[in-house]
Amino acid sequence: MHLFSRRAGALSLLGMQVVSAIDLDLSSTDSIKAAAKTAAQGMVQYYTGNRPGDVPGNLPQPYYWWEAGAMFAALVDYWYFTGDDTYNAITNQALLFQVGPNNDYMPPNQTKTEGNDDQAFWGMAALSAAENRYPNPPPDEPQWLALAQAVFNSQAIRWDNTSCNGGLKWQIFTFNNGYNYKNTISNGCFFNMAARLAVYTGNTTYAEWANKMYDWVSAVGLMSPTYQFFDGTDDTLNCSQLNHIQWSYNAGVFMLGAANMYNFTNGEAIWEERLRGIITGAGVFFNNNVMYEVACETNGKCNVDQRSFKAYLARWMAATMVRAPFTRELLLPLLQTSARAAAQSCTGGSDGQQCGLQWTTGSFDGSVGVGEQMSAMEVIQSNLWDQVPGPVTAERGGISVGDPSAGTGGDQSPVGLDPDDITTGDRVGAGFLTTMVLIGVIGGAWWMVA
Ligand SMILES: *[C@@H]1O[C@H](CO)[C@@H](O)[C@H](O)[C@H]1NC(C)=O
Ligand SMILES: *[C@@H]1O[C@H](CO)[C@@H](O)[C@H](O)[C@H]1NC(C)=O
Ligand SMILES: *[C@@H]1O[C@H](CO)[C@@H](O)[C@H](O)[C@H]1NC(C)=O
Ligand SMILES: *[C@@H]1O[C@H](CO)[C@@H](O)[C@H](O)[C@H]1NC(C)=O
Ligand SMILES: *[C@@H]1O[C@H](CO)[C@@H](O)[C@H](O)[C@H]1NC(C)=O
Repeated sequence: MHLFSRRAGALSLLGMQVVSAIDLDLSSTDSIKAAAKTAAQGMVQYYTGNRPGDVPGNLPQPYYWWEAGAMFAALVDYWYFTGDDTYNAITNQALLFQVGPNNDYMPPNQTKTEGNDDQAFWGMAALSAAENRYPNPPPDEPQWLALAQAVFNSQAIRWDNTSCNGGLKWQIFTFNNGYNYKNTISNGCFFNMAARLAVYTGNTTYAEWANKMYDWVSAVGLMSPTYQFFDGTDDTLNCSQLNHIQWSYNAGVFMLGAANMYNFTNGEAIWEERLRGIITGAGVFFNNNVMYEVACETNGKCNVDQRSFKAYLARWMAATMVRAPFTRELLLPLLQTSARAAAQSCTGGSDGQQCGLQWTTGSFDGSVGVGEQMSAMEVIQSNLWDQVPGPVTAERGGISVGDPSAGTGGDQSPVGLDPDDITTGDRVGAGFLTTMVLIGVIGGAWWMVA
């Protein structure tokens, strides 16, 4: 839907007061909250899963299941930052409906496309709920921390050293396209969850896994010595070739993981060095201090998934500032300039408040959707980071009940699914791979900064 006319709202409705654009004054808590609220409304309007006959937790076409998990994580953060519980009911309903029979975010409906990254975006939503002291589900439902542990444990079992000396494959099931790809976001999400679970629970086993994952990503070259994160690598070639495309969420997912390891180790110098490096490396995603998706924004090639990636970099930068306070002077100016630029892009749609994709343009660029709204919302609400109590841990303030052995049952072959039934359309999966490998093969594009 690309129906838009710039500031249409302001020109209509004789004399009625119509707000257009999102006003944002970062020195005012109320202004930030109001701006986040407007962006949230614009995002949630796409959601239909709570309607009778629809499936809770699913976004309509063209949005994949993982992005819905990401959206509910954004709404968990929205409640945390603003105190506005308008969306808690749909968030609870979705996060609990999609847990699957083993309470590990593996619902059978998603088997044909679910990768480790897709599962992790739901797991990280549950983990944010635990960290943010988001209200607990009823006692007879699975609990936030246990859900995150289940996702983590189910993935730890999938650690694959039959090739490339380890790592996680992108896909979970052999019959899905991308089973032979070890991608950075899947491995990064695991690192992120491991480090955060270490901090939340104090259990060193998670920190050992985080170290193991970090070392693997580094050794295989998916993270470069200058802290650039590349998309992924083919394990049938023993990971000897890399797809060098860079995405903002990969930098973000490792940034927050490193911040948590820094915190868990009580400020170890090696983690400070790594975290500083990751922040410097993420400079590729900023233009005049405004966040942008370098690989696809300026060439107009961002797909539906990619239009949401800035949301996660913003989300994880804000959380990084809390777990590793020394990073504030580096990250806060970037969040501020990006939030202001994002708000300026929100003049689209019939209400004059839909947000665009390219914040660097200083105006609305005509691109609208869940990803555009979520990105604007996250970068705006992140500026409330110092107005909230800060994330809890089990020892300090946590209220979510965990289960260290959740998700340790291993993967079963999906019942009632004949791989022959899977169509090419299904095999596109979360869409992280197909087009990207093609682009990677064509190679040499300017944004593949090595
Ligand atoms: C799975 O799909 C069926 C058919 O659309 C639907 O009735 C059911 O609610 C879905 N369950 C989940 C967990 O998505
Ligand atoms: C490979 O993985 C298995 C199972 O996780 C583990 O027992 C083994 O030690 C691993 N080998 C190496 C070389 O890491
Ligand atoms: C595969 O790559 C790993 C490092 O990524 C290396 O240690 C191992 O020796 C390689 N195996 C083969 C068979 O080339
Ligand atoms: C760890 O994080 C807490 C906030 O969650 C912060 O107060 C503390 O200073 C951090 N520790 C270090 C070593 O930065
Ligand atoms: C720590 O985490 C590991 C891995 O999930 C688990 O096996 C172990 O039971 C946990 N230990 C405690 C004390 O909870």
